[in-house]
Amino acid sequence: MKILGIETSCDETAAAVVENGRRVLSNVIASQIPLHEKTGGVVPEVAAREHAVKIVPVINDALDKADLALKDIDAIAYTQGPGLLSSLIIGATAARIMSSNAEKPLIPVNHITGHIYANWLEETDEDPIKFPLIVLTVSGGHNDLVLMKSHAEYQLIGETMDDAAGEAFDKVARLLGLGYPGGPAISRAAENGEAKYKLPIVYIDKKTFNFSFSGLKTAVLNLVKEQGKLSTNFINDCAASFQEAACCVLSDKLLRASEEFGVNEIHLAGGVSANKRLREMVREKIAASQYFNIGKKFKLTKQPKLRFVSNIVYCTDNAAMIAAAAYYHYKKQPEQYSQTPIILADPGLGMYHSDCS
Ligand code: KG4
Ligand code: ZN
Repeated sequence: MKILGIETSCDETAAAVVENGRRVLSNVIASQIPLHEKTGGVVPEVAAREHAVKIVPVINDALDKADLALKDIDAIAYTQGPGLLSSLIIGATAARIMSSNAEKPLIPVNHITGHIYANWLEETDEDPIKFPLIVLTVSGGHNDLVLMKSHAEYQLIGETMDDAAGEAFDKVARLLGLGYPGGPAISRAAENGEAKYKLPIVYIDKKTFNFSFSGLKTAVLNLVKEQGKLSTNFINDCAASFQEAACCVLSDKLLRASEEFGVNEIHLAGGVSANKRLREMVREKIAASQYFNIGKKFKLTKQPKLRFVSNIVYCTDNAAMIAAAAYYHYKKQPEQYSQTPIILADPGLGMYHSDCS
């Protein structure tokens, strides 16, 4: 089954063709980063206008690169939400019109589900993904721990009480004058720094799987204020200290959840999962069979397999992940996609309503 995926939830106009949820036949991304660098963040109207300009050429390019015409496509998938309404509408409308003209099923996809299914793009017959598994989805807007017992079945274990990890990376980068997008900039600065500042690692309480990054962000703000003029050494050390504190709580809660639910696999997904230190820390803690919770050391009794997307292009926003997610959802309940969704684009879409176990 060949699915054309379309993604326009934020600042990338993307289209891709994926066969059977795994084989990427084309993956086209028109990034708006240079446009938003000027304002230090995404201005929704500016993003939407750019999507409107790019959407048709990007879709045509994806079909051309896959060497296919619309008639050869079996279904059209697009990001329904969450995201910026004015941006979502562009992709949703393009997908709706194409599906109607070509009489192909229209598959709305939750953006977070898309990030989760990016790991399936790299699955092989020799190394199949084994449920149950726990996914840490960390992006600019979301920070969730999700338990999956089968395809298209999600149980929310924990979420952020305030900022998502990516948002914290972006805000701290701005405080340090590192520009947009903040995550990669913090990661680069941290490589030249030392995590020598003691910053809060916020577990909230010993039972919860929820996260909070506002205290960590305020601690960085106070540190920056104390400095006055920021030296390169301070910026690098502060970036490393922040990254260490954020990755520490993310990895500890992820491993505690894997222990509690006895999963076979641990997955990292979303833009922040591109972070080298996060990947390394989770790998190290699994290898050492231990994790922390409010200063106490705990033992992992099972060693789950760790997966993250090796191709960074599939970590951050792309349309191949949307087509992959669409395939598994469609295969599970094809009848659900026989009608056009009542709400074509939903900026506040939650993934745990209809599919929640
Ligand atoms: O998943 P994504 O592309 O878009 C959303 O759905 O939000 O994630 C974007 C987020 C941004 O906050 C960006 O700063 C962060 O992912 N990010 C990173 C890295 N690369 C992207 N954060 C930490 N380290 C990275 N290497
Ligand atoms: Zn995303």
